[in-house]
This record gives sequence, C-alpha cells and structure tokens, in this order.
Amino acid sequence: MSDKETSVKAPRHVAVIMDGNGRWAKKRFMPRVAGHRAGVKSVRAVIEGCAQRGVEALTLFAFSSENWKRPAEEVSSLMNLFVQALEREVDTMHRNGLRVRFIGDRNLLSQQLQQSMAQAEQLTANNAGMVVLIAVAYGGRWDLVQATKKLAQLCVAGHLKPEQIQEDTISDCLELKGVPEPDLFIRTGGEQRISNFLLWNLAYTELYFTDVLWPDFGDDELAAAFAYFSQRQRRFGLIAEQLAAAVEGDTKPTVSESR
Ligand code: FPP
Repeated sequence: MSDKETSVKAPRHVAVIMDGNGRWAKKRFMPRVAGHRAGVKSVRAVIEGCAQRGVEALTLFAFSSENWKRPAEEVSSLMNLFVQALEREVDTMHRNGLRVRFIGDRNLLSQQLQQSMAQAEQLTANNAGMVVLIAVAYGGRWDLVQATKKLAQLCVAGHLKPEQIQEDTISDCLELKGVPEPDLFIRTGGEQRISNFLLWNLAYTELYFTDVLWPDFGDDELAAAFAYFSQRQRRFGLIAEQLAAAVEGDTKPTVSESR
C-alpha cells in the first residue's frame, strides 16, 4: 500500500468475483486447475491488502451454485484445493487476527470440507480483525430462497405476521446477516455481470470491472479498484445538494429510493 493511499477512505466491505483462472491457465498451455491454484496467491494478496487498508469485511466468490455443472474432474480438483488452502492458510489468518466465515449451501459439500470449514470458523470466531467470508456453493437466488423459507416457517409457526416483513426482516435471514452491505464489488476477467452473486446485498454497491485475470490480480490492481471507489459519489437515491448538506451537518443520508 502506498503512502498516498493512506488518506483515501476505504470501503468497509469489498465483495469479489474471482474470474479468469481458466483463461490464465489456457494462455500458458496448462490445465484449468493450474489457474485455480495460481488464484490462491491472489486470494492471499487481496486478503492482506484489504486488511492493511482497514476493510472490515471481504467476501470472495469461490464456488457458485452454477459451478457444480462444470466437468466432474474440475469440481473435484476445486474441492480438494479448498481443503488444502484452508489447511495452509487458516493458521496464518488466525495469527493475523482475521475471522473466517463461509456462506452458501454447505450441505452440498463433502464431510471433509464441511469439517475444515467449521474448524476454521471456530478457531477464528473471537478474532477482532477483518472478517473474510468465503462463498462456496453460493448463489444469490439460493440465498433469497432459503431466507424466504425461514420467513415462511416463522409465519406458519405464528412468530411473524406477513405484514411485519420489512427490508431488515429479509436482510436478517440472508447469509450476510450482521455484515455491512458491500461498498465495492470487484470482478476480474473482463465479464461485466453479477452472475447470481449477492443479489440483495449489492443494491447500492459501486461496481468495478477489470480485464485482469484473477491470478494476475495483486496489490497494485487492488489499489486501482480502491482509487476508483474513492472517486465515486455515492448518492443512495439522493441528489448531490442533499448529500453535501448531509456531510456539512455530519449526518448520514437516508436511503430513500433504489437508484
Ligand atoms: C473462476 O474462474 C474461478 C473459480 C470458479 C474458482 C475460484 C477459486 C480460487 C481462486 C481458488 C481458491 C479460493 C479460495 C477462497 C481458497 P474460471 O474458472 O471461471 O475462469 P475462466 O472464466 O477463465 O474459465
């Protein structure tokens, strides 16, 4: 991180789609899994870079609900890589005071991976540093479906009336419950899509797309994304003059509409 950057206000929560591992490997005549392995280095760099810059939460999209449709060999290589990466990285993250959490449908994962995930969460649960949320077997639509089921069950059991359901009621049933909404979304690999990531939570997030392939994404690229973020004026549906007045009065603008 450069000295110039220390004066820039960091996003509280960064969410990342790590795309381009396969193309990175193909360019080098290597198997796709080599790209995923190389991607672990970028995961490390981005975790370190975000922690150094004062980010409170970092969500990484490691495996989507749709990724199950990939060739079985690639799916199983990825699952093995997750187990290995957890074994190798969690102690360092713990020493650095980071918290690890997983979001997604963990019932779909092997017992071994579920165990490694639970151990990582337990070991780091009381740390006070940045929380790293790893999305595995996650889909934004799946998240909304599981939240809807929870709410329906509460209604059926008589603990909640349908007319009591507010935005917060839904947020509290989603996987990112208790985490501030993402301020900055980064997608590497050139595509400009959300691809069923955090559909509800990205409502006001600043979106940053880069052609850089994930294994080539390091601290300089992270700095460029943060520089982009620092230049954005986040209006939360207000007009610029209202925002200026809110800043002068040092009050937070209220979210009034979704544009
Ligand atoms: C997308 O690239 C990447 C993935 C589906 C896997 C991401 C996994 C890692 C970076 C491994 C480590 C992660 C953690 C959190 C331990 P792609 O395969 O779609 O690339 P392509 O678009 O070039 O084919």
